[in-house]
Amino acid sequence: MRVLSLISGGGTNLQALINSQNEGLLGNAELVGVISNVNNAFGLERARQAAIRTSTLPHSQFSDRLSFDLALIEVIRKYDPDLIALSGFMRILTIDFVTYFANKLINIHPSLLPKYKGLHTHRRAIEAGDSTAGATVHWVTEQLDGGSIIRQIKVPILSGDTEGTLKARVLKAEHQLLPEVIRDLSLGVLS
Ligand code: GAR
Repeated sequence: MRVLSLISGGGTNLQALINSQNEGLLGNAELVGVISNVNNAFGLERARQAAIRTSTLPHSQFSDRLSFDLALIEVIRKYDPDLIALSGFMRILTIDFVTYFANKLINIHPSLLPKYKGLHTHRRAIEAGDSTAGATVHWVTEQLDGGSIIRQIKVPILSGDTEGTLKARVLKAEHQLLPEVIRDLSLGVLS
């Protein structure tokens, strides 16, 4: 299964995928490329270190969402992916994009969906007085963070947690969740 990772920033989830692949823990999945919408995203460097092909498509060069997404489709097609993992890709996608790659697009989101779609998930969980937080991998639809849930991982919210401490705990859990989901999709354990 050819897997393409889309990133916008630090790429620690991408690193978790690279590490899993290096350890032979990614099942039949193979990371074939990384695309960033941000020129200097550190995740690009992680990919280069791992000798993974990269492309950059800065959204700032496009006048509207649709023209960026149409250009992104063309870049993605060059990688011929079976699965596209939005792994820290901070863009809202058009229905045209999502429809084009229907059943091939997954996203990792730092909350226990359907709670806390969108941004500032950790702060909102703390402010709500929740005792549990976590992350979700889900199929992508045109609804923001709204597609069907593939798998979730939970972590506790501890007294004294700040947005930063909770974010770090959730991120560590994400690094377990995303490679496991991709492994299981590649092995047909999940579909
Ligand atoms: C991760 O926490 C991921 O769940 C989140 O961005 C972070 C990226 O970190 N994604 C979203 O919020 C998508 N809506 P990373 O670049 O270190 O993997």
